[in-house]
Amino acid sequence: MTMDFAELIKEVPKAELHLHIEGTLEPELMMQLAKRNGIRIPYTSVEEIRQAYEFTDLQSFLDIYYAGAAVLQTQQDFHDLTYAYLERAAADNVRHVEIFFDPQTHTERGIEFITVLDGIHGALEAGKAQLGITFRLIMCFLRHLSADEAMATLDSALPHKSRLHAVGLDSSEVGNPPSKFTGVFDRARDAGLLTVAHAGEEGPPEYIREALDLLRVARIDHGVRCLEDSALVERLVVEQIPLTVCPLSNVKLRVFDTLEQHNLRTLLDAGLCVTVNSDDPAYFGGYIGDNFLQVQQALGLDASRLQTLARNAFTASFLPQDDIARHISAVDAVFDSA
Ligand code: ADE
Ligand code: ZN
Repeated sequence: MTMDFAELIKEVPKAELHLHIEGTLEPELMMQLAKRNGIRIPYTSVEEIRQAYEFTDLQSFLDIYYAGAAVLQTQQDFHDLTYAYLERAAADNVRHVEIFFDPQTHTERGIEFITVLDGIHGALEAGKAQLGITFRLIMCFLRHLSADEAMATLDSALPHKSRLHAVGLDSSEVGNPPSKFTGVFDRARDAGLLTVAHAGEEGPPEYIREALDLLRVARIDHGVRCLEDSALVERLVVEQIPLTVCPLSNVKLRVFDTLEQHNLRTLLDAGLCVTVNSDDPAYFGGYIGDNFLQVQQALGLDASRLQTLARNAFTASFLPQDDIARHISAVDAVFDSA
């Protein structure tokens, strides 16, 4: 093989399916926006912000993450945030993104839903035109808030549903099972939206079952705890339900102590449709390319497994079948020439 793994990973066309746009807020942009908007943040330098990013679990991260989002105020801020992510993704040869946004993080602070949507969607359109990156937008509900609040968020979103492709579920998992949102997801599906949900990150396999049976999700975000339930694994394999796995996130949030202990290779070898994603790259120390390379090294993934992971991301995407086939041919061409 003339291409080494670092080159191969850099070259291969990618799709990113698990990315919170608020989680791409780099400390530099956070400082810049705090200044631009006259918002006080509890840090005086970029270094101080980076030092604060030591997490013990999901909640310890979420507390810092929601506080950081306070600098996002105007449509331009959401545009700048999103476009900066797309430029970074283009450098990793990402060709398609399906990104999450959390309107409630912003509407709770008095920012209008439309300000958030216009800013993010406008940047995605600009990224498609200027960087050639296609996109889908997924609106997530914060599961630590009530089902009524999620329903009110859906109400404000439905007039703009042509710009949304799916709804999702994120934030504090344990104690907030998918079943809490059955009615909200029913309504979203009735309106023609697809569904996904975070499940089995910190929560039990039962939450993955609920996401499938009650929320009718097309993909499970994370899902790494499925291995605790062999019947569930069999079902996920048979139905080829994609798992959007985020290796560096899982280590930062202590789902696994080290990357060497991550179960991604086991999931893949069990025949699950596993994909690699960055989740909140500004907080977890790496974008999608870093996730691929570090997990390849930690788990000794060979070229064939990398090819499967890269193909899976397109297969699991919400793109039309002919686009999926075209992207997969491009993935295969890189591996054939490696
Ligand atoms: N919001 C942003 N990142 C998240 C994660 N990894 N799990 C749940 N909610 C999130
Ligand atoms: Zn996530």
